[in-house]
Amino acid sequence: MSTERVAVELAKGVNGLEKIILRETRGSSAEVYLYGGHVTSWKNEHGEELLFVSSKALFKPPKAIRGGIPLCFPQFSNLGPLEPHGFARNKFWSIDTDPPAFPTNSSSKAHIDLILKPSEEDVKIWPHSYEFRLRVALGPGGDLMLTSRIRNTNSDGKPFTFTFAYHTYFSVSDISEVRVEGLETHDYLDNLQNRERFTEQGDAITFEGEVDKIYLSTPTKIAILDHEKKRTFVLRKDGLPDAVVWNPWDKKAKAMADFGDDEYKHMLCVEAAAIEKPITLKPGEEWRGRQELSAVPSSYCSGQLDPQRVLQGS
Ligand code: BG6
Repeated sequence: MSTERVAVELAKGVNGLEKIILRETRGSSAEVYLYGGHVTSWKNEHGEELLFVSSKALFKPPKAIRGGIPLCFPQFSNLGPLEPHGFARNKFWSIDTDPPAFPTNSSSKAHIDLILKPSEEDVKIWPHSYEFRLRVALGPGGDLMLTSRIRNTNSDGKPFTFTFAYHTYFSVSDISEVRVEGLETHDYLDNLQNRERFTEQGDAITFEGEVDKIYLSTPTKIAILDHEKKRTFVLRKDGLPDAVVWNPWDKKAKAMADFGDDEYKHMLCVEAAAIEKPITLKPGEEWRGRQELSAVPSSYCSGQLDPQRVLQGS
């Protein structure tokens, strides 16, 4: 068997839905469902799951999978006339067998290219022609990299405008022990207060109740420190100025049919996004948005890694 076949495997997932398993030689892995172009698993070389997926997730179209990394396109949340978070997460994607080359060559064998194009039915909902290409790749150290390339293929000369988010659900041991660094002092729109604009205080963000905020013009690196697990997630992003932080807490958790009552304790969404300034593409133009996730042993607890270095280092 060639290394290529070990690195990328097509398999049946929950309810017979097709998924792609990526495996990196040192043992890390990731899973991507064609339904939604949705990453549902990212494991480190010890086989520990790093993403949260609800035990009540339905894996039943047209409902989006609760957890992992849903793709919000072409509309974030209810900021427009479409269904919340747009339709990309509810569509069946295809494997892109001949993707246009990336300018930077990815040495990783463990990658898959997916593509979403509108059907005739889709055009009735959003009257545009586009090609949305998603590459999911595992780096040699187990980093998970997602690159989205969205091209306007309208033949009527019309531009289109969209908002976007990688709606990543991180798995955390106990939300009350988690800190997010990199968003302090930044402005945010509070989704719980009619999207009024506020400025975050100087301290790292901690969690004591429901949070649903869109941080604006954020740095390219954000760190999520899980004290109990002694693990730090580092999110690096490019082309995605905003960052949403969401935890539904107990009341909203109970109101969601596909989410366990207590599961809010074990997840945190930090979503690399382009929301405040929507992206406009003319026919022929392409937009690119990339996020790279790493999980490093926490440093912060053991004192081996200064969190400022996590944020500012390369
Ligand atoms: C977040 C939004 O991105 O997604 C929240 O900021 C929303 O307002 C949450 O509740 C979950 O959305 P959904 O559509 O997956 O239930």
